[in-house]
Amino acid sequence: MSDITVLGIFVADISFSGNKIPNTGETILGDSYNIGPGGKGCNQAIAISRLGGKVTFISKLGDDEYGRLAIDKLKKDNIDTSNIIISKKHKTGIAGIHVDRNTGKNAITVVRGAPSSLTIKEIDANAIKQSKIFLTQLEIPIEVTLHSLKTAKENGLINILNPAPACKLSNDFFKMIDYFTPNETEAEFYTGVKINDEKDAKISAKKLISMGIKKVIITLGEKGLFYSDGKEEIYLKASLDKAVDTTGAGDAFNGGFSFALLKGKKIKECLEIANKVAGLSTTKLGAGDSMPTFKDISLKV
Ligand code: RIB
Repeated sequence: MSDITVLGIFVADISFSGNKIPNTGETILGDSYNIGPGGKGCNQAIAISRLGGKVTFISKLGDDEYGRLAIDKLKKDNIDTSNIIISKKHKTGIAGIHVDRNTGKNAITVVRGAPSSLTIKEIDANAIKQSKIFLTQLEIPIEVTLHSLKTAKENGLINILNPAPACKLSNDFFKMIDYFTPNETEAEFYTGVKINDEKDAKISAKKLISMGIKKVIITLGEKGLFYSDGKEEIYLKASLDKAVDTTGAGDAFNGGFSFALLKGKKIKECLEIANKVAGLSTTKLGAGDSMPTFKDISLKV
């Protein structure tokens, strides 16, 4: 039995850190690299598990070296891998990530591989029903995501959708969502509102709530975050950690938030914990590998 079920992709992240992100046609000499777990779903599952949450990860891998790396890493992180399908037909995906070590900013290309062929039939409803919280993103086929959100809702789970990468969603989607967690760019995609400050975030959140979403958390990078449920509004400043690599910070946030929600924390504390987890995740190179533990966040939960 897991407390939280995460549906999403695993890819092997190959991250290169250097003095800048190369321009088109340019070669630069980097200073370090990391090969480790990536994919938003995988990163979120690792974040939850390292904080102490029991988590099931639903995904699909290839029967190959990176697929074996995935299972090995996920098991070491105490993640339930019994709902991961191993495909003989498809390869495990890879992401190429360039990181500017001065700012921690990145440029990413993800080739999803096996999970891009995931079908509704392959989703075991029991893996969702057993949990209290269902967390997913938009990296697996959209019909599978919608079907799984519906299954979760019908079984009384709290649904969290991290709409990344942003893509067009039907109204059916919005009704299924308890917490919608876009970053500022994704929020702009859904609302058309460019967010420069807290006031813009408020307008954007209001629009999202009018679409049928219950609660909205817009992460604003170094500007912090904004929460609204239509009545209560909370603005928090970003955590002040020195960013080496921001890859996976949004995943750390979603993982931290889900964990805090599971622990029954009030909304403000959930946001503070998620903020801290996200900040700490940026202090190391890599995505899944950079998720902090419960001890690291040194907060009384
Ligand atoms: O959110 C960061 C993740 O997005 C990376 O790990 C990369 O693999 C992509 O899925």
